Amino acid sequence: MSATARKTAPLPDDIRAMKGGTPIVSLTAYTTPMAQMMDAHCDFVLVGDSVGMVLHGLPSTLGVTMEMMVMHGQAVARGLSSAMMVIDMPFGSYEQGPEQAFRNAARLMAETSAGAVKLEGGVAMADTIAFLVARGIPVMAHVGLTPQSINTLGGYKVQGRGDAGAALKADAEAVAAAGAFAVVLEKVPERLANDITEAVEIPTIGIGASAGCDGQILVVDDMLGLFTAFKAKFVKRYAELGKVGEAAIGAYAEDVRARRFPGPEHVFADVVPGAKA
Ligand code: KIV
Repeated sequence: MSATARKTAPLPDDIRAMKGGTPIVSLTAYTTPMAQMMDAHCDFVLVGDSVGMVLHGLPSTLGVTMEMMVMHGQAVARGLSSAMMVIDMPFGSYEQGPEQAFRNAARLMAETSAGAVKLEGGVAMADTIAFLVARGIPVMAHVGLTPQSINTLGGYKVQGRGDAGAALKADAEAVAAAGAFAVVLEKVPERLANDITEAVEIPTIGIGASAGCDGQILVVDDMLGLFTAFKAKFVKRYAELGKVGEAAIGAYAEDVRARRFPGPEHVFADVVPGAKA
């Protein structure tokens, strides 16, 4: 079913059932207006920890806090009615062990009304995923390039090339076996992404992966041309809103300096015409 025709948000099981069907559509969102813009078009919306880089100007996602995720999660929830909301667990909020992960995932779900959480990691996170799922928390996994691990991955490189492909496939299989309802594959070779998509029973959501994945996700500010610090190869720009916005702000500045703004239509008369004195 297209998101446009749907009246209520899908559940994680509905997303899981989309495996092998019409590709799953998703984007990140961090604010109410952005969420409203994508609600009718997306199957799920991710409150990504990319918010740290995209909206807060941080150099990586490592500085993102639970408080930031809760605040942006609440804002996004106010803008959604027909897309499911998934929220990222920030760096340091789940890696210590299943109990820590449960405590923080439960807080994110309770305070933002997200339908599921997403966390990064494969084999190493399988026990934690199983623990959360057994306690009522649907989990979307994320393998391949996991930005919270850039310091051990050696930067934002393509993952799983050559011999490393087998371990990445094992990561995807482990999170599927642990009960994740979907898995994000970030920055992995196309052939490996197709192979994993065939091998696992849950939907794969590609970002820099393959059109053969069961769904796609992009950071919304990247595809709208709002985040321009750099552009990854896998980003397709559907608009240049950053340029449009800057030109508009420039025009406003010129109007103010030339006293062309505000115009007569923007100011208030002393007396409303036709009103009784
Ligand atoms: O934080 C994020 O935006 C993400 C997507 C890139 C998948 O994890």
